[in-house]
Amino acid sequence: MFPNLNQPAQRPRRSPYNSASRTTAAQIVTMFKHFKFRVFFLLTVGLLAGCGEVEDTRPGQPVKQRQMAFKEIVKSFEPMGVMLRKGTWDAEKFQRMADALATKRDAPWAHFGPDTDYPPSKSTPEVWKQPEQFEKDKKAFLASIDALLTAAQTKDKAQIEKAYDAVHDACKTCHKQFKER
Ligand code: HEC
Repeated sequence: MFPNLNQPAQRPRRSPYNSASRTTAAQIVTMFKHFKFRVFFLLTVGLLAGCGEVEDTRPGQPVKQRQMAFKEIVKSFEPMGVMLRKGTWDAEKFQRMADALATKRDAPWAHFGPDTDYPPSKSTPEVWKQPEQFEKDKKAFLASIDALLTAAQTKDKAQIEKAYDAVHDACKTCHKQFKER
């Protein structure tokens, strides 16, 4: 009367074809779920990547152009500060870097045309509301680079440092009012 525990439970014999077709149906459901997940995953990744970088799609890409021009400026400007603060002082090299900076100082401004305040711009609306002040800050910046070039020729580190700090102040003064942080 007791079931024989040593005897495996009787299973109905399945046709291999039936069994295969059941598995296939289950697999299709699983594949579909995975597919949906993958589409969702890819969309999410795409959206996240898109958040950081809004593409400038306007003809001529004025916003991208001016941002690239500022990036070029900072590429010259930053190593000069590094050299002054903690690098090996090399007056000749500094002079070459100052010359390189001077060649880049005029690049951004032509790309601040009317009606170019749109994403991905980091400019404040003030650029277009206070054009005289923007122009004034720009001129002060250009003049500060003239002074830096003059100082670089003296090869006197103390004078050069002062001139470098003045350029830095000119960047900061303009950014305070005209660049979003
Ligand atoms: C007369 C104003 C002005 C001066 C001077 C100025 N900037 Fe800017 N800068 C801006 C504005 C406005 C933006 C925002 C541009 C935009 O995204 O539309 C900007 C953006 C930048 C950016 C960001 C670029 C990007 O890809 O988003 C960097 C870096 C930068 N400036 C560095 C500098 C440095 C370094 C100096 C000085 C050596 C300097 N700027 C001087 C106005 C100025």
